[in-house]
Amino acid sequence: MTRQEIIDRLNYLRSQELFAIQQYMNHYYRVKGVNFAEVQGMERSIALVEMRHAEMLAEKINMLGGDPINNPTQIEQMKGSRITEGNTPEEMVRADLGLERGAIRDYTQAIYDIGDSDPAIRKMLEDILGQEEDHADSFGTWLGEGRAYEVGGLKGAA
Ligand SMILES: [Fe+2]
Ligand SMILES: [Fe+2]
Repeated sequence: MTRQEIIDRLNYLRSQELFAIQQYMNHYYRVKGVNFAEVQGMERSIALVEMRHAEMLAEKINMLGGDPINNPTQIEQMKGSRITEGNTPEEMVRADLGLERGAIRDYTQAIYDIGDSDPAIRKMLEDILGQEEDHADSFGTWLGEGRAYEVGGLKGAA
């Protein structure tokens, strides 16, 4: 990948992170009902990790001479979907699991595409990917799902 392609991809990943932060914090403030405190705690602690991811991506984009994405309209366009509000705790957590599965796909693809063109960025993406897997596992476990995400589902990936 060229430097510009890497900047664009990191910005795309950052847009997903900013999107997830909004959705999780929105759920954190809105969730009510049975087990709401447990869901609240999960939404808030995972949102804080996503904030760290958004920051790590921004720092790398800056180092490469790009501009970290911040504009909500651009973020919306890059994301290509809307925040899923969810009304019950289960709907919220199911929507969150969907975002985490998307993140796992996106980071796996980015790691594959970057290949050996920048080992330090690749390492950073691998570290983030491990945390996205943990998030999918947390949401999936809460929902009682046996399998939180697909392994090796990427076409063409090594
Ligand atoms: Fe993240
Ligand atoms: Fe995540």
